[in-house]
Amino acid sequence: MRITLGVTGGVAAYKAAELVRRLQQDAFTVQVVMTRGAREFITPLTFAALSGQKVITDLFAESSGEANLESAIEHIAVAQRTDLLLVAPATADILAKFARGIADDFLTTLYLASTAPVVVAPAMNVNMWNHAATQENVEMLRARGVKIVDPDEGYLACGVTGAGRLAGQEAIVAAVHEALRAVRDLAGEKVLVTAGPTRENVDPVRYLTNRSSGKMGYAVAEAAARRGAHVILVSGPTSLEAPVGVERVDVRSAEEMHRAVVEKVAECSIAIFAAAVADYRPADTNAQKIKRNNEAMSISLEPTPDILASVARNKGERLIVGFAAETDHVAENARKKLAAKNADLMVANDVTAEGAGFDHDTNIVTLFARDGRDLALPRMSKSEVAQHILDEVVRLRSTSRTAHRSAV
Ligand code: C5P
Repeated sequence: MRITLGVTGGVAAYKAAELVRRLQQDAFTVQVVMTRGAREFITPLTFAALSGQKVITDLFAESSGEANLESAIEHIAVAQRTDLLLVAPATADILAKFARGIADDFLTTLYLASTAPVVVAPAMNVNMWNHAATQENVEMLRARGVKIVDPDEGYLACGVTGAGRLAGQEAIVAAVHEALRAVRDLAGEKVLVTAGPTRENVDPVRYLTNRSSGKMGYAVAEAAARRGAHVILVSGPTSLEAPVGVERVDVRSAEEMHRAVVEKVAECSIAIFAAAVADYRPADTNAQKIKRNNEAMSISLEPTPDILASVARNKGERLIVGFAAETDHVAENARKKLAAKNADLMVANDVTAEGAGFDHDTNIVTLFARDGRDLALPRMSKSEVAQHILDEVVRLRSTSRTAHRSAV
């Protein structure tokens, strides 16, 4: 497991050196990133010697006097290699930058570029810690899922006593383990995800499709893989790259998607149907291109197989998640669909809302669970929506397992 340790400019920076050692004892590989402020307190050489890795200090390498493309894109590579981002000590400044999404150095850019869990251990003067601005930033980060290791009370370097001292090493290490455990909660599960649109041929050059980009399904696949699942992504045509570690099966039409799902779903314990499958296809496909003439023409359509419903009919212990893209009466339609399709969770969104639905990077959804729970989420990125969906999946799984255990 790889941890990226961000060290920021506070007196407690020296304690981060011992933290590197402690994390290595737990078999973590540690990559240190230092801010400019941190380098005023302790040198990169100390961390390089302890971690055995080159310490990253700049967003742009200055050796040649020019911005270096390699180092400029390095944050993306580090972000992809990181299983967890830990910042200790974290100054008021870094909390403010993380909260507001300012990316003006390597660490702040890495924070935005990474989808790994984040643990932050603040350390600062008591008044800075208690300031409304800092507390607001901390709350904002907490709400976003960042794990905050609260500072201890005690004698501070500035000569006063109060809250602000970097939490003890064991508290920080425990928070790291907890954050990693929380996100490996799908280890051992096989998850099938459908994503993207389908294309239904009219003739060799024309087809019927819809505006789905596949982003929501790909975000779910990526999040599930990160949480430890083996993910099979059955994808209609999209321009997206398969997330790292995900097995992708490419399909084109609803019929092909149906076949791929039937073949793969038997081995899966969870199936998430995020694809925008065409509900109808041309009843006959012309072998030749339809020639233009000046008369009106019509295409006769027939329904495609409802993939979700056909799987959910004989779902057994399998947990089924469906999506309901609606333009009106969202809650009512979603609840109806949940029951009609025999699903366990419906992710409903109003595709006409600003910042929601097709081709956006954000979404506004409400989750309707089989056990009656509704969870209305504000506008957030599709990766965050994916995490909430998986949280509900895990919750439903554990309640059904408890019920199953008490029944036997
Ligand atoms: O009925 P409706 O198309 O709105 O249902 C949406 C849900 O059903 C989505 O989860 C979608 O992936 C799934 N679906 C399917 N096969 C179809 C149509 C929809 O799996 N033919």
